[in-house]
Amino acid sequence: MRVVRTIEQLREALEYMRQGGHTPIGFVPTMGYLHEGHASLLRRAGEMSSTVVMSIFVNPLQFGPNEDFSSYPRDEQRDLELAEREGADIVFIPGVEEMYPQPIRTQVSVSSLTTQLCGASRPGHFDGVTTVVSKLFNMVQPDYAFFGLKDAQQVAVLRRMVADLNMNVEIVACPIIREGDGLALSSRNVYLSAEERSQALVLSRSLREVRQAMEEGKVRTVEDARKLLVSVISASPLAVIDYAEILTFPGLETLDGASLLSDADGEIIIALAVKFGRTRLIDNNVFNPKEVATLV
Ligand code: PAJ
Repeated sequence: MRVVRTIEQLREALEYMRQGGHTPIGFVPTMGYLHEGHASLLRRAGEMSSTVVMSIFVNPLQFGPNEDFSSYPRDEQRDLELAEREGADIVFIPGVEEMYPQPIRTQVSVSSLTTQLCGASRPGHFDGVTTVVSKLFNMVQPDYAFFGLKDAQQVAVLRRMVADLNMNVEIVACPIIREGDGLALSSRNVYLSAEERSQALVLSRSLREVRQAMEEGKVRTVEDARKLLVSVISASPLAVIDYAEILTFPGLETLDGASLLSDADGEIIIALAVKFGRTRLIDNNVFNPKEVATLV
């Protein structure tokens, strides 16, 4: 495994792999503090590619002024061990100076898909994501890029960016990896106190309960599903709901509250963002309601 810190070294390392015929190239962008979720992306990349590139860069552009950029957890040594164990061939760890040597005057911005869910709570966040991912795609020029459905809106936004701008890369969406008790893995889980950690289980529990209620025919409309979500989450005294929404996926369009879930065309997303103290956690479930047998 090669660790490179400059764009020039990265291009050299990639050129060497391409010359040796080690293609296709798979790319896993991350902000580090790696866990099993990131590891699953590396493994998927390894199955589909001959060269696996991972980037570790905490991107200041996607953090708001009152967000956790400076305190975002970092552990380069541990990250490198995980990357090596999971088969990364090249790890790119640029500094902020390398990525942004001068104030950025060119941004990539996806409209409409970024105004709801996390885009509404974190203004400018997705412009930061699409801009840095565009830069990284230009540097790596991967054949495949791997993203987790943990950040389902990010997947929808990046797919649209790639389609709209004819970027020559295929976005591969990978399933959410969870702890045994259901909590979706996140680098931010380390911020949780023991009490918050145990109450944070309401995110995945509420998603499971809504699915189960749909299967039992107890929940049929969008509004019923939303009410059940909110009631399960609100039963946790430390949980403060940022959003609990049901939208089409990947279009992220609003569904009328009175409409039947079974009327949705294609997939829907049940998306949650809940704060525990200063820690904001997200979780979601993407599925086709027509595949929930009792609804049709
Ligand atoms: P980061 O939060 O480090 O996540 C990197 C990738 O890991 C993302 O595609 C994310 O969806 C995926 N991931 C995180 N937790 C996961 C889990 N529990 N299961 C499956 N996949 C999971 O997302 C970012 O970084 C940044 O926005 C980035 C794309 C790197 C741009 O800066």
